[in-house]
This record gives sequence, C-alpha cells and structure tokens, in this order.
Amino acid sequence: MVLPTHVNLIEAGPRDGLQNEKQVVPTAVKLELIHQLRAAGIKTIEATAFVSPKWVPQMADSSTVMNVIAKHDDVTYMALTPNLKGFEAAFAAGCRNVAVFAAASETFSQKNTNCSIAESFERFIPVMDAAAKAGIRVRGYVSCVVGCPYEGEIRPTAVADIARRLFDMGCYEVSMGDTIGVGTPGSVRAMFEATAKYIPVNKLAGHFHDSYGMAIANIYASMEMGISVFDSSVAGLGGCPFAPGASGNVATEDVVYLLRGLGIECGVDLDALVDTALWISAYLGRAPASRVARAMTRH
Ligand code: HMG
Ligand code: MG
Repeated sequence: MVLPTHVNLIEAGPRDGLQNEKQVVPTAVKLELIHQLRAAGIKTIEATAFVSPKWVPQMADSSTVMNVIAKHDDVTYMALTPNLKGFEAAFAAGCRNVAVFAAASETFSQKNTNCSIAESFERFIPVMDAAAKAGIRVRGYVSCVVGCPYEGEIRPTAVADIARRLFDMGCYEVSMGDTIGVGTPGSVRAMFEATAKYIPVNKLAGHFHDSYGMAIANIYASMEMGISVFDSSVAGLGGCPFAPGASGNVATEDVVYLLRGLGIECGVDLDALVDTALWISAYLGRAPASRVARAMTRH
C-alpha cells in the first residue's frame, strides 16, 4: 500500500490532553496553548468539551474558551458535545464543529457518559438534527476500539458496528479511539479491516493513546491501510478520567517527526511545536512525554 502524501493532524491537547489534569488549568493558559498550537501551523484543534463540569471539572470553562477562539477563521476548532445541552452551549459560544462520542464497550459507555451504548445514540439524534439545521458538521468517535479498561479485548466486528452507526447517522468522519493504548499494528489492522467494510478509509481517523508505546507503529500501520487523519496531543498530554491507567495521546511532535522522515506533508513546524510542548509541560510541572521533544532538547 502506498503511504499518503498528506496527513491531517487533529490536535487534541487542549481537550483530551488537559481533561485529566488534577489541578485546574486557568483559562488564560488554555488560550495561550491554543494560540501557540495555531502559530505552529496546526489547522484543526479540539479545543474543549461541552460536558458536565461535575464529571470533568477541567472543561468547566468551555464556553469562555470557545467564545474567545471562535473569532479566528484560519483554524477549525472542534468541541465534544455528548448531548443536545452540550451542542446548544457549544453553538451559543460560536463553535461550528462538534463531535459526538460513543464506546464499543457497554461498561465504558456507562462509566464515561452514564448511559448504555443504545442510550448514547438516542442522545446523538437531537444533536445530529440540530447540527444539520445549523449547517454544522459532526465528527464521531468510537472509544475502546481495541480494548476496554473494564471488559478487556473488544471484537473488531463490535467496533465496526458502532462506527457504522455513527457514519450512517451522518458523521462526516469517524475517529477510532484506542482509549487505553493497548493496540498493536496487528489488532489495529484487524479493527480497521472490519470497519472499512462499512466506511471508506478516507472517512476514518486514528486516535491512539500511547500507554504501551505502540502509537507510532499503529499510525504507520494505519497509513499503510490508507488512513490519513490522526488525532494527537502536544507533549503527549492526557488520558481519560474514566479509563484508569491510560496514558496520553500519541505526542503530536512524535507524529510530525515520523511524517517529516517519510516526506509526508502535515503543515506543522516541528521546532515551534517542541517549544510549545516544553512550555506546557513546564507549566504542568513535568517533562514532556514525547520522545522527540526530549531528544531535541537534550544537550
Ligand atoms: P448525566 O448525569 O447522565 O446527564 O450525564 P443528565 O442529563 O442526567 O444531567 C445531569 C446533570 O448534568 C444536570 O445538571 C445537567 O444539566 C448536566 P444538574 O441538574 O445535576 O446540575 N448536564 C450537562 N452539563 C453541561 N454540559 C452538558 C450536560 N449534560 C447534562 N453537556 C453526561 C451525562 C454525558 C453529560 C456526563 O456523563 C458527562 O459529562 N460525562 C463526561 C464525558 C467526558 O467528557 N468524557 C471524556 C471525554 S471522551 C474521551 O476522552 C474519549 C476520546 O478521547 C476517544 C478515546 O480516546 O477513546 C473522545
Ligand atoms: Mg482520547
């Protein structure tokens, strides 16, 4: 399989990256992070989530964040909206790109969104309707596409079924999330093979967490299958509050380094991105999880 010549990176640092931070990150720091990512050339940023502040306190300032950034028209800002309440708040704050998220595991669905998989789809119907009326595109996510922190291994056919339902209800793209980062090229390939029976590969994205250090290998295997959209997080920030033990997303710098080495265009300035990784990591009081950021700053 020929590798893609261009890859779209969806930067999830401000949302997936920060949602799990124990200390509340001030809104001004989130805005500075988004500013720096934009300056580094990132064109799509998952900026925040319109979810319950009781469930995810870190995202309580979603309306404020979105109100400020929605003014930029050179970047696509995306936000998670699990239900109509979330969609309406996102829309009111100026958000014009939203995402709904489902899980391929019943237990994870309950832990993450307090409802069954079937109920989560019931919640998406009014979101899809309202978005269609407003002319807004909706991205879909599937969590636990390889494994679940509560149920273990998840069958590719079960994953494909959830992805197909999101696509059939109108999601323009479905991002396949290895929430706990247990996937390897073998299991990721099996998952995409099952899913690609229903959804064209150019409508699929990879969302890899890096708990086992396999995310870069999984991205390469996905590209070999024709996938060319990947979610990542600057400095490898993140994790999910409802997936104990999961590490952050694959670091954006690591993906950019891989792509640069392969001659694949992504439009991101690696040096600027590494500076951002160092800045946000210093703010949070730790070294970047990214191998590339550490290697590029080793003296
Ligand atoms: P619920 O308790 O079932 O909802 O929560 P409810 O409708 O019964 O409402 C209960 C309360 O929540 C009410 O407030 C509502 O107003 C409020 P109260 O009367 O108690 O004061 N509420 C909301 N507030 C703000 N925004 C909303 C909203 N909806 C209801 N949209 C809900 C259901 C989904 C809201 C809740 O379970 C929740 O917020 N969960 C958090 C989910 C989340 O953010 N998870 C992390 C992101 S997903 C992820 O990380 C995976 C991903 O990265 C891919 C991967 O890696 O796999 C995407
Ligand atoms: Mg995630």
